[in-house]
Amino acid sequence: MKRISLTQYLVEQQRQSNALTAELRLLIEVVARACKTISHSVGKGALGDILGSADTENIQGEVQKKLDVISNEILLEANEWGGHLAAMASEEMETIHPIPNRYPMGEYLLMFDPLDGSSNIDVNVSIGTIFSVLKAPEGMGQPTEQAFLQPGTAQVAAGYAVYGPQTMLVLTTGNGVNCFTLDREMGSWVLTQRDMKIPEDTKEFAINMSNKRHWHPPVQRYVDEMLEGKTGPRGKDFNMRWIASMVADVHRILNRGGIFMYPADLRDPASPGKLRLMYEANPMAMIVEQAGGAATDGHGRILDIPPTKLHQRVPVFLGSKNEVEVVTRYHGE
Ligand code: AHG
Ligand code: MN
Ligand code: MN
Repeated sequence: MKRISLTQYLVEQQRQSNALTAELRLLIEVVARACKTISHSVGKGALGDILGSADTENIQGEVQKKLDVISNEILLEANEWGGHLAAMASEEMETIHPIPNRYPMGEYLLMFDPLDGSSNIDVNVSIGTIFSVLKAPEGMGQPTEQAFLQPGTAQVAAGYAVYGPQTMLVLTTGNGVNCFTLDREMGSWVLTQRDMKIPEDTKEFAINMSNKRHWHPPVQRYVDEMLEGKTGPRGKDFNMRWIASMVADVHRILNRGGIFMYPADLRDPASPGKLRLMYEANPMAMIVEQAGGAATDGHGRILDIPPTKLHQRVPVFLGSKNEVEVVTRYHGE
């Protein structure tokens, strides 16, 4: 079989559609290269001094793991000098990171969750990197945080790398979803799945059940009905999976369907859910929609939410279209 590399795929895309500019192609290749470097570090584990805590806290009050910090550095360094970006933003940085003056400034904005699933690092379970690309607003001048506050529909590309038994890169530029597998010996990304589609129906759900007592009634009802199985209102048995790495849960759903939920709950009304809109929910929502699935906050499309802050959190319901439709309908009743 003829192998198609990420570079070749992107060059072909660039020829076919005007949406993929040379700058965006470079951006994606640079992010993919950084993910390769992160994958290499992840693979070293205890041999690479990458496990354990960094003994620092990020802006969200979470204790940073060494790998959170390392991955953030790798992505920043890789993306600074290419001339394709105006600024970056990350889960691990309080505010935006403009491109230093010594490099030319490009027209794109890049956001990332450098290391998703941090609680899984030290136990050798799949983790990942999530990224989202926006265009800087016309005539922006010096980049500001405000420039990043565009709805998910404005994303020009989104993707994630999953560091599991295999390292894979899943990418969309608004023209379907494709998956590349890292050939570790050759150091290249090889196209292994074209135009991924999420089955519209599913019998599998993913939610952290330990929070059940805190959920709002529509989520309680939706999950209870699934748990009732064949003899309940849904008329079928459901299975459950929870990896605690959104990347790995979404990757399973892209491949065989399912619904992933991280709802808001009653604990802290000021914090609607756990996942962050700009670099977790939006890129995943774009990928899922591009693969024929759906993504809502329980009420409306995630991609339509007008952001108000860089580190804003949102409830997330995404995956197989018909299941996302059911839980979203329950929120309206
Ligand atoms: P991060 O490691 O980037 O902070 O994200 C972790 C997120 C997400 O990947 C996962 O689905 C969820 O947190 C797990 O939450 P629980 O600890 O509640 O299982
Ligand atoms: Mn995350
Ligand atoms: Mn993270």
